[in-house]
Parts: sequence; C-alpha cells; structure tokens
Amino acid sequence: MSEIFALVPAAGCGSRMGSELPKQYLPLVGQPMIYHALATLCASPDVSIVFVVLAPDDVYWHSYDWSIFGDKLQPLFCGGSTRAESVLNGLMAAELELDDWLLVHDAARPCLSRKQLAFLIEALRDDDVGGILAVPVADTLKRADAECRIVHTENRAGVWQAQTPQMFRAGLLLQALRTAPNVTDDASAVEALGFHPKLVTSSSSNFKVTYPQDIELAELLLTRRK
Ligand code: C5P
Repeated sequence: MSEIFALVPAAGCGSRMGSELPKQYLPLVGQPMIYHALATLCASPDVSIVFVVLAPDDVYWHSYDWSIFGDKLQPLFCGGSTRAESVLNGLMAAELELDDWLLVHDAARPCLSRKQLAFLIEALRDDDVGGILAVPVADTLKRADAECRIVHTENRAGVWQAQTPQMFRAGLLLQALRTAPNVTDDASAVEALGFHPKLVTSSSSNFKVTYPQDIELAELLLTRRK
C-alpha cells in the first residue's frame, strides 16, 4: 500500500519580508516560523516522514533543537534556486515509491491546522490525480497598469486562491516538475501535463506569511490555538 509523505521547501530567502534572517526562521510564538508547519505535519498519523528541503549552505537549521520531532523529521540540504527546483531536488533525494503520496507544504504557511490537513488527505487519498487546499476568491479583482490605475475589473466567478499542502503521487509530481520547471506551485506543473487537480476547500487562516504585517496575524492565530 502506498504511504503518505510530506515535503516542506524551505530554501528561500523571503526577500519581500525585508529581513536578513530567511523568512522560515523568523521568530513566531517563541519558535522559528517553520516549526509550526512541521509540528502540524509531524503530528499527523497519516504522514510517514516529513522532509524539509534546505539550502545547501543553510547555516541556521542546526542552531535550533528539532529533537521533539524525532526520526519523523528529515532535513535534506539540496534546495535549488526556485521553489519548484527545491521541490524537485527534495523529491529525488527522498527516493519515494512512484505511487506514494507527497504533501508539499510551504514553510511560510505556519497556520495550517491539523483539521485542514486531515480534511485534505481524506478528500484526496482515493483520487486519481491529487489536488490542493484552496479558497474561492472573496474580493473583487482589479487589473492594474504600470501606474497602479485600474484597467478593468476581472471576473472572479470560479477563481480560487491556491494554498498548500498540495498532494500528488510522487511519480506524477516528478514527471510534472521535470516537464514544467518554471511554475510557482506544484499543481501548475501537474496541470501542464493535462491533468485537472482537485480544489479542496480550505480557509483564509492558512495564509502565506509574505509581508511583515502578516507576522502579527499569524501570532494571533497561533496563540489563540494554543
Ligand atoms: O517566496 P515564497 O513565499 O513564494 O516561497 C514559498 C516556499 O518555497 C517557501 O517555503 C520558501 O522557503 C520555498 N522556497 C524554496 N526554494 C527557493 C525559493 C523558495 O524552497 N529557491
């Protein structure tokens, strides 16, 4: 029977955060940001191993204590120059069976809840393609020109915001990322092969920490959950 693994690409520098320390290590409720996503993934009884893909020259990882996660957490120092390259390198280093499931989750989404993770796995474990957590777009969408003037209003019907985890069979994801390396998420690579991944409804609490003001919101959510 195929197993379920998780892989967290964490080899980025988080340039939009404007901090010297890479985003995944910024302090959040007494831990580096990445700790929270790892804790949720490691706590899942469905997940066998959680791989973390770090930059080959990462000097921060070993300055923290990860022993609470035991052997379930395995760092791989093989990150690439883009997110897609980091996922692909990690996938090759993890040496999974082709029909094993892989949950790819961004280190910068610390507020993923155990319930959301379990819901995603339950929704997809018998799916032919796989899919992603996502939320239907709630705001009106504007197309801007170079001067930040509205060119027109986009039709938001049927438009969703992609989140992570994104759950695909290891073999399919390997083939997809090799074929379409210039993507910003895993589903895009699978779509490029002609597949239609499933959108599994999530909530906006699983947002991506991108700008400094996002840290405060993540602190509030995680503190309340504690
Ligand atoms: O920069 P962004 O927030 O889109 O990055 C999404 C995820 O991809 C983060 O967890 C980041 O660390 C990771 N990443 C990576 N390798 C890169 C760039 C980003 O693992 N070269």
